Order: sequence, then C-alpha cells, then structure tokens
Amino acid sequence: MAEDGHAGQGAVHRHRFTGTNQTAAASTPDRADPIIELRQLRKTYRRRGAADLVAVDDLTLRLGHAGTVHGLLGPNGSGKTTTIRCLLGLIRPTRGTATVFGADASREFHRVAHRVGALVENPKMFPNFSARKNLSLLARLGGIAQSEVDRVLDVVGLAGREHDSFAAYSLGMKQRLAIAAALLKDPDLLVLDEPASGLDPAGIAEMRRLIRQIADDGRAVIVSSHQLVEMEQVCDDVTIINGGRLVETGSLNQIQNFAGSDRLLATIDDREAAISVLAGAGIMAHPRPDPQEMVVDFDVGRSADVNRVLAENGLYLSGLRSERATLESAFLNLTEEPPPPEPNPGRTPAQPDPERARATRSGP
Ligand SMILES: Nc1ncnc2c1ncn2[C@@H]1O[C@H](COP(=O)(O)OP(=O)(O)OP(=O)(O)O)[C@@H](O)[C@H]1O
Ligand SMILES: [Mg+2]
Repeated sequence: MAEDGHAGQGAVHRHRFTGTNQTAAASTPDRADPIIELRQLRKTYRRRGAADLVAVDDLTLRLGHAGTVHGLLGPNGSGKTTTIRCLLGLIRPTRGTATVFGADASREFHRVAHRVGALVENPKMFPNFSARKNLSLLARLGGIAQSEVDRVLDVVGLAGREHDSFAAYSLGMKQRLAIAAALLKDPDLLVLDEPASGLDPAGIAEMRRLIRQIADDGRAVIVSSHQLVEMEQVCDDVTIINGGRLVETGSLNQIQNFAGSDRLLATIDDREAAISVLAGAGIMAHPRPDPQEMVVDFDVGRSADVNRVLAENGLYLSGLRSERATLESAFLNLTEEPPPPEPNPGRTPAQPDPERARATRSGP
C-alpha cells in the first residue's frame, strides 16, 4: 500500500482498555509516537481593507494516540476548525505542515484517508432516507461491506431507530449518525469537530460516553470543543489554543495542574489579617470577591495547618473547603480570558473569576 513506507509511524495497535480515562492514558503504549504532527502550522485569510486574519499561528504540536481522547480546546474563533481542516487536507496551510500517519495532509492525504474518519461541520445526509439507508449508500460508495452498517449503528446506539428518516432525528441522533458514517471505514483515527455542540446535557453525556467507547476500542480520537467543563470528563490529553496559538498541551492532569492544583477556599471575618498571618508562615492566600473569602495556595491534605497557624494568632475560620482544580480554572490561568459561557442552561459551571485568575497567575 502507498503508506507502507510510514508503517512505523502509523502502527496503531488496537486493544481494549478498561477503567477511567486516566488509567487508559497511563497504560497507552507508544506515547512518544503520535499519529499527527503539526509543524509551524499557519493559516491566514485575506481581508479586504485590513491586515490578513491569522486563524492559526505557528502551531507546532504532536498528538493522537491509539486508545486515547485528545481534546483540542479553545474559545470560539481560536482556530480549532481551521487546524482540523488543515490536518484533514481540506484546506492548505499558508505555511508549515500537518502530517497524519506520516502523510503530508495538504499534498497526500488520500494515501491515509481510509484510516481517518471525521466529523467536521454539519453532517450531509439524505433527509428522507433512514439512518440505515444513508449508511448503506455510503458503504456502497466506499466499497465497504454492508455488514459494517449494522456494526456502526450498534456502536452509536441508533440500532432501534435505524428505519426512521434522518429529518425526524434529534440533533444528538444526527450527530451520532454522522459519527457512525465516520466509523464505517473502521478508522484508526477519528477526528470530531465540536460533536457536542448544541446538545442538551443528556446528549452531551451520551456523546462523551460514545467518544470514550470509541477510544477504548483502540482508536485515537481527536475532539475539538469550546466546552471545557464538558470535555474535561472525557479527555486523556488536552491542547489549549487561543487566538490561533498554542497555549498549552499535555495530559489532562498536567494541564489541570496549571490551575495550581487543588486549593482551599477559606472564609474568615478578618480576611486581610489572615492573609498577612498566613504569608508570615509561608502560605500564600489571595482574596476572593466576597470580602470574607480567600483562596489558599496550599496542599489540601494539610488544611489543619492553615487552621492552626490562624488560631495561634487569634484568628478563626468560619469555613474551609477544598476546591478542585479544573480545566476551566487552568484555562483562566493560562489565557487570562474567561471561556465563553456554556450554551446549556441546565448546567451551572463554575463562574469565571477574574480575580482568582489574576491571583493564581502570580502563584508558583
Ligand atoms: N474561510 C474563512 N475565511 C476567513 N476567515 C476565516 C475562515 N475560516 C475561519 N476564519 C477565521 O479564522 C478564525 C478561526 O476560526 P475557526 O473556525 O478555526 O475557529 P474555531 O476555534 O473553530 O471557532 P468555533 O469555536 O466558533 O468553532 C476566526 O477568526 C474565523 O473568523
Ligand atoms: Mg469551529
């Protein structure tokens, strides 16, 4: 086959993982051998009467491992879709390269296309055809066995609704059908651009389960999203981009640690005195918008020490609780920009707290 010369790079070993995303990441082989490599990838768009718009700005990145989910995260307009289009060979970068399974995406994506399934933008299906009929048609066009249609319908959980027409599907079902279409060729790499966009909380949870299941089946999944809170729950690795630039990339744990790890949220009447006393003991605390609240940069497991230091100085806490490091707080720390509000009214994600973002940036 054409890509034989790249067999080493493209050697995807499919195997089943059990347990959480964290254990999957830890047990993934070939961590040093990613499927996708972006080298100084840059994409600019011309604008009439204005400077070129830089959609992707010198992005250098290695990502994609069998059995893992890699989140490409960033706010609206940060360049996620543009990056994905470049790596799928749909658009040509202005500069730099995107390599997938060893093939330059802009020149020779066709060589590896059979190994890559993708969902970018709205799925194009025949509205009056059922899921089964749409998939059967795609299978026939792609020279894929009809038995694969049953397999993918089952994977995405549409088997019970396979005869309903596409037009009658909910948005979540349409998204799942699009993923089924992308899975038809049994790809090693699945690239999903905002698959949870517009879904309600239940739909998002279902999408997460599906993504996890596809990765646990041994495929590499790249998923873009601006919904940090949602993606945190399914990603093994994450890349945060902002303004077309790489902000940070690494394992979910590593990125979360940019949030300063788990921290303590303390309530006390004389906050300013408490902050000063704690500083004297080498413990940094930062005020919160609430005049009695402060965030303590400290090992959560040693919260008793905070209490003791304060009590020794005649200061007594009225509340102390730990606050978990989240991708959202990491994002705030890394970009100093709040992520856009989550579109789903049913959820109440942590509110961006600019004061805290400022405070934590000055931390270690
Ligand atoms: N075809 C195009 N012509 C001109 N500008 C474009 C084009 N495609 C994207 N852009 C611009 O490039 C920037 C990055 O867009 P892109 O769609 O990659 O962002 P995104 O991270 O996918 O955003 P979203 O979360 O809204 O999907 C934006 O400023 C956008 O307006
Ligand atoms: Mg996009």
